[in-house]
Order: sequence, then structure tokens, then C-alpha cells
Amino acid sequence: MVSLRFLVCCLLFLASSVYATIVSHDGRAITIDGNRRVLLSGSIHYPRSTPEMWPDLIKKGKEGGLDAIETYVFWNAHEPTRRQYDFSGNLDLIRFLKTIQDQKLYVVLRIGPYVCAEWNYGGFPVWLHNMPDMEFRTTNKAFMNEMQNFTTMIVDMVKKNKLFASQGGPIILAQIENEYGNVIGSYGEMGKAYIQWCANMAQSLDVGVPWIMCQQDDAPQPMLNTCNGYYCDNFEPNNANTPKMWTENWTGWYQNWGGKNPHRTTEDVAFSVARFFQRGGTFQNYYMYHGGTNFGRTAGGPYITTSYDYDAPLDEFGNLNQPKYGHLKQLHDILHSMEKTLTYGNVSTIDFGNFVSATIYKTEGGSSCFFGNVNESSDATINFQGETYVVPTWSVSILPDCKTEVYNTAKINTQTSVMVKKPNEAEDKPINLKWSWRPENIDNFLLKGRGESTMRQLFDQKIVSNDQSDYLWYMTTLNLKEEDPVWGKNMYLHINSTAHVLHAFVNGQHVGNYHAENGKFHYVFEQEAKFNPGDNVISLLSITVGLPNYGAFFENVPAGITGPVFIIGKNDDETIVKDLSAHKWSYKTGLSGFENQLFSSESQSKWSGDSVPFNRTMTWYKTTFKAPLGSEPVVVDLLGLGKGTAWINGNNIGRYWPEFLSTEDGCSTECNYRGAYYAEKCQTNCGEPTQRWYHVPRSFLNPKGDNTLVLFEEIGGNPSFVNFQTIGVGGVCANVYEKNVLELSCHGRPISAIKFASFGNPRGKCGSFEKGTCEANKDVVNILSAECVGKEKCSVNVSAEKFGVPECDGATRSLAVEALC
Ligand code: GAL
Repeated sequence: MVSLRFLVCCLLFLASSVYATIVSHDGRAITIDGNRRVLLSGSIHYPRSTPEMWPDLIKKGKEGGLDAIETYVFWNAHEPTRRQYDFSGNLDLIRFLKTIQDQKLYVVLRIGPYVCAEWNYGGFPVWLHNMPDMEFRTTNKAFMNEMQNFTTMIVDMVKKNKLFASQGGPIILAQIENEYGNVIGSYGEMGKAYIQWCANMAQSLDVGVPWIMCQQDDAPQPMLNTCNGYYCDNFEPNNANTPKMWTENWTGWYQNWGGKNPHRTTEDVAFSVARFFQRGGTFQNYYMYHGGTNFGRTAGGPYITTSYDYDAPLDEFGNLNQPKYGHLKQLHDILHSMEKTLTYGNVSTIDFGNFVSATIYKTEGGSSCFFGNVNESSDATINFQGETYVVPTWSVSILPDCKTEVYNTAKINTQTSVMVKKPNEAEDKPINLKWSWRPENIDNFLLKGRGESTMRQLFDQKIVSNDQSDYLWYMTTLNLKEEDPVWGKNMYLHINSTAHVLHAFVNGQHVGNYHAENGKFHYVFEQEAKFNPGDNVISLLSITVGLPNYGAFFENVPAGITGPVFIIGKNDDETIVKDLSAHKWSYKTGLSGFENQLFSSESQSKWSGDSVPFNRTMTWYKTTFKAPLGSEPVVVDLLGLGKGTAWINGNNIGRYWPEFLSTEDGCSTECNYRGAYYAEKCQTNCGEPTQRWYHVPRSFLNPKGDNTLVLFEEIGGNPSFVNFQTIGVGGVCANVYEKNVLELSCHGRPISAIKFASFGNPRGKCGSFEKGTCEANKDVVNILSAECVGKEKCSVNVSAEKFGVPECDGATRSLAVEALC
């Protein structure tokens, strides 16, 4: 007995010494295995890519200088039906976490389970909303039970796989809730009690790593409150022992249907990060590092696009978004090189006035300095320890030894990569795909008005459909007698609607359709319609385009046709209103083509290749194609189509809506990085289809043999322009300051020519460089051609010795290059 106990004790001791990775915190930095750390992290959401993409994305994150990957956990994806779980394919959370572990990076696991994230319904399952006595994110028994159930299930699963750092795994931090502090005021005392409950519940799960709560100023101890935003240098945690942590540094912004394409400059992202570490930050995470794609019906809303590119350091397809990726990588390497002084050094600050300051981190072993200039319009010249330094407007300079500037956030030495699309070379005539088609079978609904349930009331779409589909039919039959006062007048169908998109039919005739303007989801649809004496079938198809994901009580924002619905008879002196709201309404969730899985590769359905119609509503199209050669990412161009859903070999690649153009105004080709960023500051794509190209992950394709594309076109479109393309680097350019290294890379393709090169004071920007007033006396194009052409990458020291000495009146010299891939 004694010896058994001894054995168990020793085993436990052994186990703990093998797995002991202790995570604690001390006000300055997170401490892992006794080492205090500067932690750089990036968000990659596993369902927004495919398992086949994960290793490469994570590897690029690691090479980009990240220590950790942050992800949310997506409740509605994992528990689509209550107590029925899905962790398959791109929902394989454990596989994702292990892929990160394999590459020896840490993980920040944001369980939520409310996540926001531009994800459908903020990650909540809609069945949750439909449970009795339910109220989200407050002291509500039903909600708390479900939240605890899901959170516990995830924690248990992660523990079973020994993935918490306390078990020797990669997860160093876990998150409960998400930005509740932004909305807590709307929930009163119940909200305060709820956040306390969240803290206790999380704590009771005993994960052995700290829990964070982002944007939660009153986070109860021991929860760590963290900051989200474009800048977090001013953030102060609510406890002196909490390290200064930034869970979401928004690298760009998301896109809405009808909205433009936002960009956040590289200079400004780097500035915000450097400023944060200048001012005592210890953990910083890019939201997003890779945004990816909202496949299927996962986009939040209303009106979040299928692409979730976010202008992140890795683009939607997983390519390096240069120069953002490289400029930040350099920053990470420098910050890591200063880890010791940043975490142990004594801090002092010199204020030079006019928003210019120096911060010095000093240890016995040495010092590191940051010079920050937060002025929006003037460069600063400062004197520091006997030397003069110029700190450009809205930038931070880093001097790891407090003498030599090795990095300035506004001076980019990384190449810009220009991505180009190429036609699918596996097809003879790639553009001429051969189409077959089928109509969506809607006759039952249009002519008989017959659904699967009836109610004498208009219901919110979520309640009827449980969000099993975007589509819900609302149908009623109206018996009109000729003596009815409404008769003989001009008759209108009048609908108070919160349907994101609405199609209205009377007696099988399409009366009209409407899509809400973004932000105006409560509207009146009124159309003249023809009614007959006797029975009239009114069929309204309500379509959601992503359920809301943000705001207090967002779960109650109505969706669908909430009414009232009227028939209005008008003539010169009289208006008769017939309220149909309390009629017998028949409901049908979904469309029959979806139910019959017309998109599935196994589907036995009949399609016709004859007289393929264009601009026909509710139409299914199908074609086959060969996978593009090579390994570059594939996109499908859906220009010409209206709105609908696309499938590749049965995989839903998301909603498409190329007919929805971005608004005309507010775009600029120039983007000034100086001054605080906001989402509308730098936008492109005005007046163009909001999203025209859709990602087709390589793993969805058969590399040999035929592949199938199925489209469900809802409002009418022309598929004859549809074609497949690959995306790769077309050319690269850079403007690198003297004494730095020029690195050119065609991301795996060879560099084919040097199109332009000038050492001196070249002008212009990538794509339009020009020689300046001073120029090196050697042939710069020749030198670079010899060193780079034919190679996939080359690195060149930028020095006057190499290129010859141009006289530039003492100004900093740079090398501008444009190369073709
Ligand atoms: C934050 C939220 C994230 C995401 C982000 C915008 O408020 O926490 O989940 O929605 O905004 O992209």
C-alpha cells in the first residue's frame, strides 16, 4: 500500500516536472517558465481557412515573428443543433491547436462563447435564442446554463488533449466573454452580476492559465482586462499587477455588401505597435493576421461580405500582403531582440514637447530607446545624449542600444508585392464554360401558398427557421369579393419588412424585389399588384444575409417580415387598408434545391443543357472545369451574376452578390498614414462590385479530372463571364534607404527582369517610380539584374560603395527598384 502511494506520488512529480510550463504575470510582462516575455501574436480563425491551409498560415506567422496565434471558438458552428456537435473539417479545433503546437507557437484561446467577429449572430446558435425564457449575455439562468455547458465542453476537450500550458500545451491565455464592457451599461445590475458570474465560472474550470476579458474595465480579479482598438498605448489595466495587453490591433477592417474596401497603412499599424511597446505594452495581437473567408453562411451581419481579407498581413488566400507583413516582421525581430531590457529595465521618459518623447529602458547590461512623434503634421528634430535625430511625423524610431536607429515605423524597407490574376491554363478556352441549368421549384409556394406550418401571426424569421437557411417563405391566401371596398381601386401590396432581401409574388406573378440599404433594415415595401376576385395567393420570400453580431441585445434585432402587411386600395378620394397580419400565414423554411442538394456531387438531379436562360430569377446553374495548374491560390470570377450561393464540388464557398456595387464616393488612391486611422479613412473599390472574386481553396478541387461549380442564382444573372483564375505575384517594387538590405522575392516564382532601378533620391511610388535629381554613377539596373534575375529571391546591401556615390546634398539616399516576376 505504502509503495503504491509512493509510486503515484513519484509519477505525479514526474508528470508535473515534464509538463511544468508555468504561466503567471507580474505587471510588466507575462512570465512563461520563469522567463518574462514580449509577446507578439496574430489572429487566425480556423473556420475561415481549410485544414490544408493551416500549416502554411501558421508557418508564415512564425516566420513573420509571431510568438502566438489567437483564435476565437465558434459556438454556432460547433453546436448547430442543441447537444449535437461538429468538429469536422475546418471546425477541427484540436487539429488547429495541435498544428500551432507543432510549430512551437503559443495559443490565445478566446472561447467567448460570444465572439462578435463579423460571424453569423456573433457565434450564438439561433436555437439558443428560441429557448424559453432566454436572454443573452445577462443574469439569465437558461443562458448561463448553455454558456457554461459549451464553455465546459470546450475546456474539457482541450484539457483531454493536454493543450493548456499548465499541461505542457501551447495555450497560455484563455478568454471568457468578449468586449462586454462596451455594452454592460445597457444591462444594469444584471450585467454586473453576469460579468462576475462569467469570472467565477471561468475560474472554476481550472485551466491553469490566466483568463482574460477584453474591453472590460471592471474585470473582476483574477480576470485580466485587455484592450482592443487601432491604438492601445494609452490603455491602463485595472490592476497594477496586470500586464498591459492588447488583444485586437485591427490591421484593417471588414467589408459590407455595398461598402468599399478598407485599407490601413503599414506605417500606421507599425506605429501603433511600436508606440504600444514604447509605453510599456507586453502582449500585442493583430486582429486579423489572416482574415480569410466567410464560407457557407458564416458571415455575420447583416451584410458582411464573403471575403474577410481585412487587409491583414496575410491576405485572404494566405499570400504575404507586402509590405505589411515584412515591415511588421522587422519590427517583431527588433522588439524580440530588446526583450530583456523591455521586461527588466527601469523606465524613464523625456518629453520634448509637441507630442514628441523618448522612452528609455535601462538595465545594467544596456539600454534600449524609443523616440515617438505623435504629431500629425511635423517632423521632429531632437537632441538625445549629444546626438541629433530626426523623427518623422506620426512615427516611432527604435534604437536597441539608444544610439543607432535601426527601425522607424514610417520608413518601409520591405518590398511591395503586386498581386495579379492569371487565367486558368488547364482549360483550352477557360472563359467558355459549358453550362446546364434547372429552375428552382417554387410553384407550390407561388400558386398554392402551401408551406410546412401555419400560424395566425407574422413571426420573426429566426423563430420560424432556426436559421437553418437564408430563405423563408411567408404565404397567405386572401379571398377577395367583388363587393369588397378595396376592389376597383389601384391595389398595392404594402409590407413593413425587416427582410434583408425580399421577393414578393401575387398569384405566381413576381411583383418586385428589394434589398435593404445597409443600416436601414427596417423599411416599407410598397408595389402595385394585380389581384383577382376569389382567392389570391400572396407569397413573400424573405432572405437573410447574415444575422447581427454586435451591440447590446443584438439577438433581438428583428429579421424577416415582421409586419404589418397590408393590401391598400387607393383612388383619388379614398384609401382602404386591409391588414393581413393576423391572417393564416403558411411558412416554409429553405428552398427545395437546397433540400434536394442540387449542389452535391452525388446529386442525381436532371439538368438541361439547352437554351440556358440568362437573367432568370431562382435559377440553378452547373458547369464542370479543370483545376488550374500549379499551386497558386484559385479564385472564381462571378462577374455578371446577381446574388446567390456558389459550391465547388459540393463545398459552399459562400454567398455571392456581384450585382451589389460599392457606393461611388469616398475612395482615394493616396492614403495618408499620418493621423489617427478610422475605417473610412483609406478605401478603394468605389462603384465596383463589392466582391467579384471568390476564394476556391485548392483542397476543394480535384487536381486531375473534372470539378463542378454549382450556382444558385436568386435575382437573375448571366453566368457566361464566370471563369477561374490563379493569384500570384506579378511584380515587386521597393524603395529602400541606404544602409539597409533590399530583399526582393517573387514568392516562389523567378524574378524575370529589373524594370526600373535608381539609387539617389528617386521619386514616386511603386508602379510609377522616377529618377530624382541625384543619381548614382554606376548602372544600377545592370548590377541588380546580375544579382537577382533568374532567382526566386535576392538580397542586396544598399550602399553608396556598391552603386557609386550620388551627390544628394547630404539627404538620405535610397534605392528604388521595380522588378517583374
Ligand atoms: C471587435 C470584436 C471583434 C471584431 C472586431 C471588428 O469589437 O471584438 O470580434 O468584431 O471588433 O472586426
